[in-house]
Amino acid sequence: MEDLKMDTLVSLCKRKGFVFQSSEIYGGLNGVYDYGPLGSLLKNNIRDFWWNEMTRGDDNIVGLDSSILMHKKVWEASGHVSNFTDPLVDCKVCKSRFRADQIDLNAACPTCGNKGTFTDVRKFNLMFKTNIGSTAADDDSSVIYLRPETAQGIYVNFKNVVDSMHEKLPFGIAQVGKSFRNEITTKNFIFRSCEFEQMEMQWFCKPGSDEEWFDYWRRKRISYYSKMGIREDHLRWHQHGPDELAFYAKDAYDIQYKFPMDWQELEGVHNRTNYDLTQHTKFSGKDLQYFDQETGERFIPYIIETSAGLTRNLLMVLSDAYDEEDVDGDKRVVLRFHPCIAPIKVAVLPLVKKDGIADKAKLIEKDLRSSFKTDYDQNVAIGRRYRRQDEIGTPYCITVDYDTMKDDTVTVRLRDSMKQERIAISEIRSYISAKDSEYKRV
Ligand code: GAP
Repeated sequence: MEDLKMDTLVSLCKRKGFVFQSSEIYGGLNGVYDYGPLGSLLKNNIRDFWWNEMTRGDDNIVGLDSSILMHKKVWEASGHVSNFTDPLVDCKVCKSRFRADQIDLNAACPTCGNKGTFTDVRKFNLMFKTNIGSTAADDDSSVIYLRPETAQGIYVNFKNVVDSMHEKLPFGIAQVGKSFRNEITTKNFIFRSCEFEQMEMQWFCKPGSDEEWFDYWRRKRISYYSKMGIREDHLRWHQHGPDELAFYAKDAYDIQYKFPMDWQELEGVHNRTNYDLTQHTKFSGKDLQYFDQETGERFIPYIIETSAGLTRNLLMVLSDAYDEEDVDGDKRVVLRFHPCIAPIKVAVLPLVKKDGIADKAKLIEKDLRSSFKTDYDQNVAIGRRYRRQDEIGTPYCITVDYDTMKDDTVTVRLRDSMKQERIAISEIRSYISAKDSEYKRV
C-alpha cells in the first residue's frame, strides 16, 4: 500500500503476534524487540531464503557461526574501539540524550523545552561493554564487547576456513547472527534497534579482480530482492559519497527501500579492499596472506562485503506486503508475502465441525505438516476465517466440505485473487508447488 503508516504496521505486528516490545509488562525497553510466534516464523524464513541463496546457489560460499563475544583486540584492530562513535549531547535538566548531528544545538531541548541546557558534544561509543571471567567487574582487563557486526567473526576465521576447507579464491563466507549497538536514536519501530540480526557475506578475491566482483555482487543482491517478491519500484541504489565512504573502502553502495517513513538503507555492498585482513595481521601478529598454488604468489585478499539486516529485512517485507482493499464494502487487510517466506503456508479449514468434516480436515492438515507450515482453524464463519488468514499472509486456504467426504476433493482458496479451485487431496502438494513457482506480486 502506497501511503502505509508505520503505526498501522506496529499495531498489526502486535495484534497478530509478529513483533512485541521487549519486557512489555515492565514498561518495555527502548529499542529492543521480541519476535512473536508469526514474527519468528517469518524471520526464520527470510534467514533461510538468504542462507540457501548464499550457501546453496551458484557461488562458492561456506557458512560460519562465530561467537558474539570476541577478544577485545578484534575491535581495536577493526577500528571500532576508537571510531565506532556517534556525537551526542545530554540535556542537563531532563537528562534526555540526542545525536548532536540530528538536533539544533541552539534550540530548546525537544523533551523538556528548556534552552541552553545541552552539554558539550561528546563522542559516544556504540558498543555494549561487558566483563568476562572471574576478575572484578570494574577491572579494565576483563572488559569485552558484544559484537556490533558479524563481519569481524568472519575475518578472524579466514585462515581457519582456508586451512580446514582448502578453499581457493574467490570464495565467500556467510554468517547470520545477532549484533548489538547502543543506538541513541531508536525511533521507527524495529528499523534501528539495539539488538538486531545481520546476514553478512564476505567475498574473498584476488586484488585486481575486486571491481569486477563488486559489480557482480551488486547485480546479484538487487535481483535477490525481486526473487523474494519485493516490488522493484520500492528499491533503489545509493552510492556513498566522499563524506560517507569509510576511509579504507574503495566503493560502497546501499540498497535502499521505500519504508513507511522514508527511503532508507536496507543492505550495504562494500569494496573493503584488503583493510580488514591487513589490520588483523598487524594486531594478531599472524600471517593472514593467501598462498596461490597456481601462481606461487602470496597476498592479502580483497573483500567484497554484502551486509543486510535480517530484522530490518523483516520490517521491509512487512511494509512491502501490507495491503488494504475494499471487498463488497468491507476493508480487507492482506499481507502479500511471497509464498516462499510466508509464516503459514497452508491453512486447513473445515466448512463445519459436524458429520466427520472436522476430523477429515485434521487428518489432511496433519499430513501436510511434513511439507509445509500449516494452521488449522475451525472456529467462526468461513469468510471470517479467510480474512484472518489474509491478515497474516497465508497464501493458500484449503476448505474441507461435504463433497470432500464423497470424492476426496477440497477447495483451494488463493489469498491474492480470492479465487477458488477444486482439486483432489492427493494433488495438494503439486498444486502448491506449481502455484509457488508462478507467483507474481500483485
Ligand atoms: N559489516 C558492515 C556493517 O555492519 P552497517 O551498514 O553498519 O555495515 C549493515 O550495517 C546492515 O545492518 C544495515 O544495512 C542494516 O540493514 C543493518 N543494521 C545496522 N544497524 C542496525 C540497527 N541498529 N538495527 C537494525 N539493523 C541494523
